[in-house]
Amino acid sequence: MLNWDNPLSAPQPASKPAANPTPAPAVVEKMAEPQTLAASYAASEVIGDMSFDDTGITLPEVKAPADTAKDSLEEQLAEKAIEGIARDQSEALDSIAPVKASDKRVINGEADVNQLAPFKYPWAWEYFLNANKNHWTPLDINMAQDIQDYQHKLSDNEKHVYENVLAYLTTSDILAMRNIGLAVMEKMTAPELQIYQARQVYEEALHTWTYQHCIETIGLDQGEIYNRYRVVPAIHGKIKLANKRLDSVMRSDMDLRDPKNLTEFVMAYIFFSAIFEGTWFYNGFTPIFSLQRRGLMKGTSEQLQYIMRDEVMHASFGIRVVKQIMLENDVQLDPQAIRDMWDESEKAEIDYAHYILRKPILGYTAEDHIEQYRFIANRRARQLGLEEPYPNAQNRTPWLDEQANMKKEKNFFETRVTEYQTGGALDWG
Ligand SMILES: [Fe+2]
Ligand SMILES: [Fe+2]
Repeated sequence: MLNWDNPLSAPQPASKPAANPTPAPAVVEKMAEPQTLAASYAASEVIGDMSFDDTGITLPEVKAPADTAKDSLEEQLAEKAIEGIARDQSEALDSIAPVKASDKRVINGEADVNQLAPFKYPWAWEYFLNANKNHWTPLDINMAQDIQDYQHKLSDNEKHVYENVLAYLTTSDILAMRNIGLAVMEKMTAPELQIYQARQVYEEALHTWTYQHCIETIGLDQGEIYNRYRVVPAIHGKIKLANKRLDSVMRSDMDLRDPKNLTEFVMAYIFFSAIFEGTWFYNGFTPIFSLQRRGLMKGTSEQLQYIMRDEVMHASFGIRVVKQIMLENDVQLDPQAIRDMWDESEKAEIDYAHYILRKPILGYTAEDHIEQYRFIANRRARQLGLEEPYPNAQNRTPWLDEQANMKKEKNFFETRVTEYQTGGALDWG
């Protein structure tokens, strides 16, 4: 049985020890075998074996005071306090009125945020329902062939691409989780928006698990891979830009009724949805997909395809929220600030592409990656209702959108006992 207090410890037999407590050697060997996190999870037993009543923590006994007689002054104060509470409750009941959809706002709203319906933003609820059609875990996908491919088929140059793409993505997904969960969600004042964002927070954590699973399964040095963004300037450059945007909005004193703060928030939301998720992520999987197109690292690529679907929805949802905020609050963006944002993102992407693809891999070059950034950035700008930042950018990887739609991929859910919907009827582009 899994030890829930210390899940990484070796499992212990549940029954009482026999008269001779020395277990058979074969059992000792198996028990002592180091477990990977994935193996520990896969081997874990159902939660029904766990006792939720016994926490294993004993608190000191609470004793009644020896003298329970009330002091007369204390009694008077208590009575006044009770009168005050009753008065507050009465006034609160007088002010209760039904929530109307028209009362809701994306931000700075005053309608009850604990009441889901009536919906003002039914599309947000649809996003939540659709997100639940793309459910998987990294353990659902067979990675055995990827281990062989990495060890015996990838060139050193291709290994460099694979490792650094994962090193970038895994740090980015934690940033994405912190942005939506800590900086954005708390500022929303309509619950239908927060509910999808709560799902998004979970998905970002799932993505982090997926990269960790790939890194561990392939047998890469985790400490080295996770530190790479700190020591490789071309990876750090992108993370630094994202951290700058996150820091600008993750402030407890951020009042969105202040126009300057509101503009800063909208700009950060545009950056995260349209660039960070909508362009960098969307395009960020491409080097590994190019390996997949040659029959290599297919397990990793399949994992990334499921992540890509989530990211398409995150980007699309974020863009819609941004537009709604701009509409409701009459936000006018500074065209130069938008231009600067595209430019600094492009520069960071160029540095990154030249580092990741310092030598081209078969079927994919740094120039392809950079041009594809520009092509997808144009798409996100159009979705935002903004001018295309890179007119005439070419679509260097026309097969990329198919990856999101998975039209040519097998359906791994067929092999599972439980049937899930795969969202096949949705437009993931
Ligand atoms: Fe993600
Ligand atoms: Fe995301």
